[in-house]
Amino acid sequence: MTAERRSVVRGVGGYLPEKVLTNTELASMVETSDEWIRERTGIQERHIAAEGETTADMAVKAAEHALKNAGLDAGEIDLIVLATATPDYTFPATATIVQERLGVRQGAAFDVHAVCSGFVYALATADNFLARGQAKTALVIGSETFSRILDWEDRSTCVLFGDGAGALVMTAEEPQSERGVMQTYIRSDGRYRDLLYVDGGPSTTKTVGHLRMSGNQVFRHAVGKISESIEHVMQDAGLTADDIDWFVPHQANQRILDSVAKKLKIPEGRVVSTVARHGNTSAASIPLAMSEAFEDGRIQPGDNVLIEALGGGFTWGAALIKF
Ligand code: UT7
Repeated sequence: MTAERRSVVRGVGGYLPEKVLTNTELASMVETSDEWIRERTGIQERHIAAEGETTADMAVKAAEHALKNAGLDAGEIDLIVLATATPDYTFPATATIVQERLGVRQGAAFDVHAVCSGFVYALATADNFLARGQAKTALVIGSETFSRILDWEDRSTCVLFGDGAGALVMTAEEPQSERGVMQTYIRSDGRYRDLLYVDGGPSTTKTVGHLRMSGNQVFRHAVGKISESIEHVMQDAGLTADDIDWFVPHQANQRILDSVAKKLKIPEGRVVSTVARHGNTSAASIPLAMSEAFEDGRIQPGDNVLIEALGGGFTWGAALIKF
C-alpha cells in the first residue's frame, strides 16, 4: 500500500456581498435592539446578498480569490467540494455550476450538506480524496445565502445570520510534507434534528422553507460537542492548546467562541473572530475567517490552525491543519 499523501493548503479566499445590514436596521424590522444582539451574540452587522446574487456567484468569487493567492490556474483543479445548505437549485449541485463558471473541464464537483459544519465535512472529504491519490488539486468551498431561508419576522433567528463565501485551494503533496491536514473528525446525531432545521424541502412540502431553531438548547449542546471534537483531534495529533497558533471556529456566537476557548485554555489573542462583522454565515464562516486572518498576515505558513463547527442535524466536528 502506498503511503497517504498530505493535503496542503495553497491558497485561501473569501467574498462578502456589498450590502451590510446593521443591528439598528434590524431593530426597525423586528422587536429587537442593537444592545440585545451585541450582548447575546457579539454580532454588530452582517452582509446580505444582492437581489439575484446566488450561492454559486459568491462561491466563484471566493474560489477565484483563493486561486489567485495560491498562484494556480483553475485548469489545474480536479476536485470541487462545496459545502452549502442554500444551493442555487434543488439540483444540479451548486459545485457543478461553480465548476462550469471557473472553466474547469476535468475531475468531479459535488456538494456536501452538513449545514454550519459543512466546511469541516467538506475539508474532511477533500482530504480523503487527496490523501488516496484520487485528486491532485482541490477547491474546498463554503458558500451560503442564509438570508433566503430566514423568517424575517422571527427575531430569534433573523438577527443571527449573514451571507458570504470562503474557499481553500489544496494540493496533494508527498507523505513527508511537514505541512497539511493533520487530523479531521466529523460526527452527527439525527436525534437532535428538531432543535435546528428548515421547515420545508422538495420531498416534504415542495417549498424551500424557513430556518427554525431552539437557540438556547443548541447553545448548550454546542459548547460540549465542540470541545469534545477539539480534544479528539488534538489528542490524535499529539498536540496541546499551547501548540495551536490560530483557532478559527465556526462563527455562530461570540459567547460560544469564548466558552470553548476558555475551556480549552486557548488565549483570546489566538482566536480569529469575525462574528461581529459577518454574523453566522454557516458553512462559509470558517473559510471566510481564515481568509481574513491569512490576508492580514496573522496565519503564516507552518502555523497550526484549529477549526471546529456544530450545525443542524446535529452535525459537528473539528480539524487541525498545518498551514
Ligand atoms: O450555527 C449553528 C449553531 N447555532 C448556534 O450555535 C446558535 C446557538 N444559540 C445562540 O447563539 C443563542 O441561544 C441565541 C443568541 C440564539 C439566543 O440567546 P439566549 O441567551 O440563548 O436567549 P434565549 O433564546 O434564551 O432568549 C432569551 C430571551 C427570550 O425572552 P423571554 O422568553 O426570556 O422573555 C427571547 O424571546 O430573549 C428573547 N429574544 C430576543 N429579544 C430581543 C430572542 N431573540 C431576541 C431578539 N431581540 N432578537
